[in-house]
Amino acid sequence: MMQVVDTIEQVRAARWADSAATWGLVPTMGYLHEGHLSLVAASTAENDFTAVTIYVNPTQFAPDEDLNTYPRDMARDLALLAAAGVDWVFTPTDALMYPVGFQTEVRISEVTQMLEGASRPTHLHGVATVVTKLLNIVQPTRAYFGQKDAQQTVVVKRLVADLNINTEIVICPIVREADGLALSSRNVYLSAAQRRAAVVLSQSIATIADEIEAGARDGEALRQQLAALIAAEPLAQLDYVSIANPLTLHEWTTIEMEKGVLVSVAVFFGRTRLIDNRLL
Ligand code: PAF
Repeated sequence: MMQVVDTIEQVRAARWADSAATWGLVPTMGYLHEGHLSLVAASTAENDFTAVTIYVNPTQFAPDEDLNTYPRDMARDLALLAAAGVDWVFTPTDALMYPVGFQTEVRISEVTQMLEGASRPTHLHGVATVVTKLLNIVQPTRAYFGQKDAQQTVVVKRLVADLNINTEIVICPIVREADGLALSSRNVYLSAAQRRAAVVLSQSIATIADEIEAGARDGEALRQQLAALIAAEPLAQLDYVSIANPLTLHEWTTIEMEKGVLVSVAVFFGRTRLIDNRLL
């Protein structure tokens, strides 16, 4: 039966009750959708036990962002996780995660500077700090993250390698609606018209991916074309487009296919900011 716990002592006691058991961790901010559940399914398939954390981490939101209005539905989340065969759910409070006197931050110097980092300068430091804490608390065999937050996956892999954290990082594919919109807890903010318009992210990325697969290699020309495709949607306001090396996140001048290419975008619909990407 699924156990819901909110202290580090409870997590540690469960984790080390059988030190030979493998544990999968799925860190989330709740308001779960099929994307999260695909991470849970990967974890339950590959580990003896699966733990999910539900914690809306304040340090990854800037003061003008949606921390207070971020969608929450703990009862529904717990029902979904129980049905998905999760063993442990950890629901820490802010006081537990950031007690009085807390003053340490995990900063990754290079791969946090561009893309999300350029638009949201404190976001990835908050993500890196909370993910490090959750990995230290649970000490899982494996931890599962979605490709949808492409830069987050690069940051998490970097910090695990750099800080010698003994957890394998598993990245799972983006889960999409039938029309291609990547699932996100923030999709709930979209009006009906914005929701229809939001297909522009996946469609424009698909167009550019097709061109790259057909041989296009000029990074700047592809970025301009991607920006123009998004600008053609009147409800969309572009934040960034990127055609980058997936390891360094440096923008490609001339794509070197053997090193891979990450096509990514961030777009506002009103005050709602959506991201999407494709890794080739
Ligand atoms: O991807 C998310 O939902 C969050 O950034 C994470 C990894 C749970 C850290 O708060």
